[in-house]
Amino acid sequence: MGAPVAIVCSLEGDGLVSYPDQRRTTLEWEMAVQSVGAVLQTLFLLAHERGIGSCWMAAPMYCPDIVRQTLSLPDSYAPQALALLGYPAGSGKIRPRRSLDAVVDFR
Ligand SMILES: Cc1cc2nc3c(=O)[nH]c(=O)nc-3n(C[C@H](O)[C@H](O)[C@H](O)COP(=O)(O)O)c2cc1C
Repeated sequence: MGAPVAIVCSLEGDGLVSYPDQRRTTLEWEMAVQSVGAVLQTLFLLAHERGIGSCWMAAPMYCPDIVRQTLSLPDSYAPQALALLGYPAGSGKIRPRRSLDAVVDFR
């Protein structure tokens, strides 16, 4: 709750390829959603490199109307994530890493 920086990451459909059918329209949007994840991952890695802690919150996806209203965002913005950033007060919790075999299905 005390993070000094909070970035709301939103998607905007303008610029996406438009298709005549719903299937590809949905896939195009999903591709854009994936790109948000890529952006956030890059942001978090760069922050980590600089000693800045980060936390990914998907919560804005669950209350898009409130987010748009609170931040006076256009209706066309689809809030996707809240990225919290700040210098850690302490070392935090270090989670044990699962083995590669536990998270990758090698075929
Ligand atoms: C894609 C993604 C979305 C997340 N969204 C939320 C969220 O909306 N609210 C939340 O409390 N934690 C969310 N988390 C978890 C936090 O980012 C973070 O991993 C967690 O709070 C770490 O605390 P813990 O070690 O006590 O679990 C999300 C994590 C990921 C990877």
